[in-house]
Amino acid sequence: MIEQLDQMQQAALAELGSINTLEALRAWRQRYLGKQSPLGEISKGMGKLSAAERPAMGQRINAVKQLLEQAFAACETELQTAAQAAELARDQVDVTMPGRPVQSGRLHPITQVLREIEAAFAQMGFGVWESPEVESDEYNFELLNIPANHPSRDMWDTFYVQTPQGADQVVLRTHTSPGQLHAMRYFAPGPTRVILPGKCYRYEAVDATHDMQFYQVEGIAVGDNITMADLKGTLAQFAEQVLGTVKIRFRPSYFPFTEPSVEVDVSCTFCQGSGCRMCKHTGWLEILGAGMIHPTVLRNAGYDPEKMSGFAFGLGPGRVLQLKYGVSESRLFFTGNVRFLEQF
Ligand code: PHE
Repeated sequence: MIEQLDQMQQAALAELGSINTLEALRAWRQRYLGKQSPLGEISKGMGKLSAAERPAMGQRINAVKQLLEQAFAACETELQTAAQAAELARDQVDVTMPGRPVQSGRLHPITQVLREIEAAFAQMGFGVWESPEVESDEYNFELLNIPANHPSRDMWDTFYVQTPQGADQVVLRTHTSPGQLHAMRYFAPGPTRVILPGKCYRYEAVDATHDMQFYQVEGIAVGDNITMADLKGTLAQFAEQVLGTVKIRFRPSYFPFTEPSVEVDVSCTFCQGSGCRMCKHTGWLEILGAGMIHPTVLRNAGYDPEKMSGFAFGLGPGRVLQLKYGVSESRLFFTGNVRFLEQF
């Protein structure tokens, strides 16, 4: 029996040496320490022994059992540790790997140039105002001395908003000029000096070079003794600050809400005035319309035109942007092409 035990122990330990999974280890335990193990068989043979031999044999069997249990436990710990180490190695994060770059946004060029324009006028004492994009016909036209059916209405292709009443009295503003009335009515009879930047809308169905939505910056100054010279000085100062050294010139023009009216050009930034395709070989590019506020408009705003005078202008920041960066198509700024916009 002892020999049998020794052989079994040796076989069991030898087999254990080649086990490398926890599953195989459990099967091994079943085989050598389970109910149907050879150890059980050997124990059954105890009955045939004499009373004197039995205790020693019993001790021996127990010792083998213990030994195998210990060997099992040791092997189990070893395999578990190895499994854990393998898992850790598999899930390891390489903290030295370079990260993914984060795409950071920035201000749209139109926002940038609007801020520059606002800063330039703020330095000259202009407040920055906003007025609604959805306007009444009264503010967009009537109060600006543009009566219904007047031919000058053709200057603005208008989007009319269909109201529940069916009346075409609500429009998307075609220019920022209705803001003149909002601001002047707030300050009159005292002086007014504000700019009003914002979006405007025109029904540009025929003309492919214009957008249906665009930006304008309206400016007004009303006071005791405001003259055309103040208008020219203010605009020259603005042009120098935002566009650098450019020349400006006034050309006579017509707007129903200013008298006299002018269109203001700056020397072409593409060719420095020598003449090119951009300026149609004139050396000049138009950036705004302006003039002295019409007495009727002053009266509509609550001023006495005998006592107060003022100038108004409406400039296109899209045009300013184009001139500032020498971009031939101002619409490129509004297509949402990130590769183009990233340059600014
Ligand atoms: N509102 C005019 C336009 O959109 C521009 C302008 C503004 C002209 C103020 C004179 C004075 O065409």
